[in-house]
Amino acid sequence: MAEVIIVPDQATAGELVADAIQALVRHRPDAVLGVATGSTPLPVYRALGGRGLPLDRVRAFALDEYVGLPEGHPESYAAVVRREVTDPLGLDPARVRVPGDTGALRTAGEDYEAAIAAADGVDLQLLGIGTDGHIGFNEPGSSLASRTRIKTLTEQTRRDNARFFSSLADVPRHCITQGLGTILEARHLVLLAFGEGKAEAIAGAVEGPVTASLPGSAIQLHPHVTVVVDEAAASRLALAQYYRDVYAHKPEWQGL
Ligand code: PGA
Repeated sequence: MAEVIIVPDQATAGELVADAIQALVRHRPDAVLGVATGSTPLPVYRALGGRGLPLDRVRAFALDEYVGLPEGHPESYAAVVRREVTDPLGLDPARVRVPGDTGALRTAGEDYEAAIAAADGVDLQLLGIGTDGHIGFNEPGSSLASRTRIKTLTEQTRRDNARFFSSLADVPRHCITQGLGTILEARHLVLLAFGEGKAEAIAGAVEGPVTASLPGSAIQLHPHVTVVVDEAAASRLALAQYYRDVYAHKPEWQGL
């Protein structure tokens, strides 16, 4: 089962996950990170940035990207990754990829899969979760075996993301996202969620049936998953007390 760590606040989550990334990079300076956008992973990037680690050899693959935004739009995930991850952490922009960044949409999915494979896969994949249970932009109904491809966003996701745009009408309808099958090939999945609004999606992903109707539940198929949630996002987990006990008695040598 996934390891579930319930933390008091987002800053603690950020430090915990930064510890795992620091340990990974110490062991493998050219580690491959899977980076996520949205609000959730920001505490991780903030914590990492504060450590002054040498990350110039690290490679990174973003999970997803909007399709249809004008070139250079500040809310494109290429721009967000550059602003929140590449620049502040001192990554080499040439080693950071976002799906669709070759411009040729028709072959973008295959190109991205090939690039991930050429990098020998993702070592640690950061994930948020949508209120509708999506990971990446794999909306409900996505095949558990899906690969990087174009998808249509749900109205719920467009409404959730409207806060980043001037109006709902400006939120793109299409995206390109790593598939669930792609995500499941990363060697370590780290799923973060904060706030009551994510409680139902987290309970479904961690404890519900594995189903394409709740794409986050695909994490149950992976042998190494760490779920880091605050109390509010953990509030619907039936086994919360067990997760607390496990973590309280976790042997130091295990790491994340
Ligand atoms: P959020 O988005 O981190 O902005 O809440 C998560 C997601 O949609 O995957």
